[in-house]
Amino acid sequence: MDGRDLVRAVKDIGTERGRRAWLSAWRHRRADAVGLPRRGAERARVPGLLSGTEPRPGGGLLRFARSELVVRVGVGGAVFWGWDGAEAAPSYAVTGTGPEPDPRAVLEPDTGGGWRVVSERVTVAVSRHGAVEVRTPGGVVLRRELPPRWWEPVEAAEGAGARWLQRSEVAADARFFGLGGRAAGPRLRDGVYRLWNTDPKGGFGPGTDPLYITMPVQMVVADAGTHLVFHDNSWDGRVTLREGEEGAGSGADRPGSSELRVEGGPLRCWVLTGTPARVLQGWSALTGAAAVPPAWALGYQHARWGFGSAAEVRRVVAGYAERGLALSAVHLDIDHYDGHRVFTVDGERFPDLPGLARELGERGVRLVSIVDPAVKAGDPVHEAGLAVGPGGAFVRDARGGEVRGEVWPGTCAYPDFTDPAVREWWGGLYAERLAQGFAGFWHDMNEPVSFTPFGDATLPRSARHAMDGAGGDHREGHNVYALAMARAGWEGLVRLRPDERPFLFSRSGWAGMQRYGGSWSGDVESSWDGLRSSLALVLGLGLCGVPYSGPDVGGFGGSPSGELYLRWLQLGAYLPLFRTHSALWAGRREPWEFGPEVEEHARAVLAERERLRPYFVTLAHLARRTGAPYVRPLWWGAPEERGLRDCEDAFLLGDALLVAPVLECGADRRAVRLPRGRWYDTVTGAAYEGPGQVLLDAPPGRIPVLARAGAVLAVRDGSGGGDGVALEAWAPARGRTGGGLVIRDPGPGFGAGEVERYVVRWRGDTVVVEDEAGHPVENAVVRGL
Ligand code: NOJ
Repeated sequence: MDGRDLVRAVKDIGTERGRRAWLSAWRHRRADAVGLPRRGAERARVPGLLSGTEPRPGGGLLRFARSELVVRVGVGGAVFWGWDGAEAAPSYAVTGTGPEPDPRAVLEPDTGGGWRVVSERVTVAVSRHGAVEVRTPGGVVLRRELPPRWWEPVEAAEGAGARWLQRSEVAADARFFGLGGRAAGPRLRDGVYRLWNTDPKGGFGPGTDPLYITMPVQMVVADAGTHLVFHDNSWDGRVTLREGEEGAGSGADRPGSSELRVEGGPLRCWVLTGTPARVLQGWSALTGAAAVPPAWALGYQHARWGFGSAAEVRRVVAGYAERGLALSAVHLDIDHYDGHRVFTVDGERFPDLPGLARELGERGVRLVSIVDPAVKAGDPVHEAGLAVGPGGAFVRDARGGEVRGEVWPGTCAYPDFTDPAVREWWGGLYAERLAQGFAGFWHDMNEPVSFTPFGDATLPRSARHAMDGAGGDHREGHNVYALAMARAGWEGLVRLRPDERPFLFSRSGWAGMQRYGGSWSGDVESSWDGLRSSLALVLGLGLCGVPYSGPDVGGFGGSPSGELYLRWLQLGAYLPLFRTHSALWAGRREPWEFGPEVEEHARAVLAERERLRPYFVTLAHLARRTGAPYVRPLWWGAPEERGLRDCEDAFLLGDALLVAPVLECGADRRAVRLPRGRWYDTVTGAAYEGPGQVLLDAPPGRIPVLARAGAVLAVRDGSGGGDGVALEAWAPARGRTGGGLVIRDPGPGFGAGEVERYVVRWRGDTVVVEDEAGHPVENAVVRGL
C-alpha cells in the first residue's frame, strides 16, 4: 500500500462504506489463507534435450527430455505451438480451434540437431534445447522464444500447476505495442507490464499501470517485418519489455527482449506475421470479427455520473438542441438506479423512463444504460440468481460460501459469467433494460471491483469459477471475467432483440472482447497527460483487435480548462467512441459551459463529426471484415519507416485521413510527421509531400487533419439528397490514380453492407470519380485541385 492508499484507508474507517470495505478485505484475505493451494517446495525445469519427433498435420510433435511441444502452421500462416500438451482449445480468446492445419507445411530436420516446420508464409524452427524461432520465408528471424522455464510443485496439489517463464528476443530495431490498453503507450518502452485487469482507483495518467484491460498480446514492428504474438493464458502475469539497441557494446546489436512470467495455466502461443493489416486480419479470423456498432453509436454522445433526475437529462438534451449541436445518445450512470442496484430504476427521480426514452428518441437521441456486474445481496436479482443451475449464479469460495464484496449498492455477490447457465440468466435480465427504453449498454466495474482499503480491489484469488466446465479459481478467471460478462450481455440482447445488433462497450475485457463490442478509457484524469493517455489507449487497443473505443472527453474526475476540454473534443471527434463523461464531483462538460468561444469551436467539431459519420460507418464495417482498426498508428502502411514507429502524437483514421491532435497546453501550431506520399491540409487545401515533417497551424478552432492524395471517402451529403451520403475525393498526384471503399449503413440489423469501390483519376485537366463500372459519380466533390 502506498502513502496515498494508506491515507485513504485510514479515512475510510470513518464511513459506513469504509468500515464494510475493511471487513470485506479481511474476509477476502482469510478466504485466500484457507482456500489457496499452498505451493510448497518447487522444482525448476527446462525442456531438456530433443529426443524425437512425429509429423502431425501442419507441423509436428517434438519430444524433449521433460516436456513435449506441438507446432502447427495453419492455412493462411497462423503459427500455433503449445508446450506440455497445451492445445489451442478451449480458449476464451480463440473461436473454435483456430485455422485448419496447412496441408503443405512439412516438418524437416534443421541445422544443429533442431527441426523446422516449413510453410509458404512462415518457417518455425525448434532447436534441440527447445528454443522456437519464427522466420520469414526468406529466413529472417522475427522472434526467438528461448526454451521455457517452469517451476512445478514437488508435491502435486490441486490447482497448483506450474509457473512459467518465457523469454523472447526480437530485432534490435523492434518496437513493442499492445498488451491491452496501456496509458503509457502506444509505444511500450522498457518496463514491467502486469497482466491483471485493474481499476486504478481514481484518475489515471501515463504513469499508471496496469489498467482495466490487459492482454498477453504484443504487436512487434521491425525492419524485418511485423508480427503479433499471443500467449493464450489468462492467469496473472508480468511482461518485462526491453527495447534493443543497434550497435550496442562492441558494435554488435543487442536484441530487444520480452520476458513473460505467468502464475499458472498453459504455455501456448500464436504468432501471426506479415504486414500490420495482414496480421490484424489473421488476429480477427482467430479471435472473431469485431461487432459493428449501430450507426447512432458513431455519433457524439453525452454521459454524466450524476444527472440526478429526468429533468436534468431533459435540460441537457434541450441545451444541445437549442444550440443546434448534434447529439446522438445520453448515458445514464448508477445514479439512475434505485439504491445503486443494477437492473432497477429510481422511480422518484426518473418517474417514467420509457416515456423519457421515447421523448428523446423523437429528437434522435438514444438512451444508454450503465450495467454493473455486482448484485446487492438480498436484492430480488440476487434471489433470482440463487435459483440458477444447481449451485446458484454467484461466485463461491473454496468452501462453498458465496463470495461477497463491496461496491456501490453495499455488500454484493458476483455472477460467475464463466458458467454458461449464468450467462444465459444474466442475458435475459437485459429485458428489463430494453423495457425501460435503453438502446445501448455500458458495462462498468467488471474487473471485477470490490472496494478495499488495502490489497487488490477485486475478488479473492481463491474464489471458484466454473471456467465453462473446466473449473478454476480467480487467478485464472479474473482476466476473463469481463469478457464473459460481455458475452452474456451480447448473447442475451441478440436473443431478446434478434433484429438489432447490440450496442455494448465494457471497461474491462480480454483478447476477443471485440466480438461483443468495444471499450472506453475508464477514469482518465482531467489533465494534458490524461489527454495523451486517452489516445494511447485507443491506438493500443486497436492493435490488440479492439477497434471501437474512446476516452471520457474532458477527463473523468476534474474540471478541465476550456482549452483542454476543446482539445479533447477535437481529438475525440476522430475516435470511434466520441463521448464526454465525468464523475459526480467533476465540473460540467456541456460545450456551452465553457463560454461562447469554446461553444463556437465545439459546434464546428460536432458538425464535422456528423459530416464524417458515413466514413465512420464504412470504417466500422471494414473493421469487422478485415480486422483493421479505424484508428491506426502512422506506421500502419509503412512499418519499415522507422521514424513513424516512434510517432505517438498523431494517427491515421482509416486510409484517408491523418489526424494530428493538439496534446500540449498553449500550442497553436505543431509538428506533423507525414508518411510517404502527398497530403492535403483539409482546411487550407495546402499540399505537403511525405515522408517528412511539417509545421502546421493549430489555432484554438481546429487541429491539423490531412487527407491522403487520391483518397475517396464517404461524407454526409449536405444537399439533403439521396440516402444522405456523398463522396469526397482528394486529387491524386498528376499521372496517378487513387480510390476508396464505401460501405453504407445497412440499418440496425446484422446486414454486412455492400462494399462499393470508387476510383479517382485525372482526365485531362480535371479529376473524376468513377464507380466500379467506370461511370462518373454525380455527388462527388473533388478537393485538392
Ligand atoms: C467507474 C466508471 O469508470 C465511471 O465511468 C463511472 O462513472 C463510475 N464508475 C460510476 O458508475
